[in-house]
Amino acid sequence: MAKSLTINGKTVTVEASPDTPLLWVLRDELELTGTKYGCGIAQCGACTVHADGQAIRSCQTPISALDGVKITTIEGLGGTHPVQTAWVRHDVPQCGYCQSGQIMSAAALLAATPKPGDADIDAAMSGNICRCGAYQRIRAAIKDAAGVAAA
Ligand code: FES
Ligand code: FES
Repeated sequence: MAKSLTINGKTVTVEASPDTPLLWVLRDELELTGTKYGCGIAQCGACTVHADGQAIRSCQTPISALDGVKITTIEGLGGTHPVQTAWVRHDVPQCGYCQSGQIMSAAALLAATPKPGDADIDAAMSGNICRCGAYQRIRAAIKDAAGVAAA
């Protein structure tokens, strides 16, 4: 049965069954492949997108839960979001695999807490795992995007 979703400001119709996780719909049906599959069990954060501005794990969110919800993916940030430009300045990515999830979590953090402290950053980012260990650059870029001094 077709279902409507609102993704990056557009209404799209998808054919996946209601229990299909959003991540599969994004990648396989809509070809929005910037959102990554890491673990599939809400443990790594690679699949993070925004649902009404909140960071969610799309691998564990069935599309049936998204009626009337505005979804934003990494493609929806447009490449000019302050977090993305700070990421470039700090040359954050290493392999890059975790990075769209990291950026989406950071963008949600700054939307809710424009001047985050270290504890805010810890709380918002602890679910995003980086196997390359880019955590220091991630933190520096978040502070840069927020205009708060690096510790
Ligand atoms: S793929 Fe969703 S949290 Fe790892
Ligand atoms: S940059 Fe490689 S997993 Fe984070």
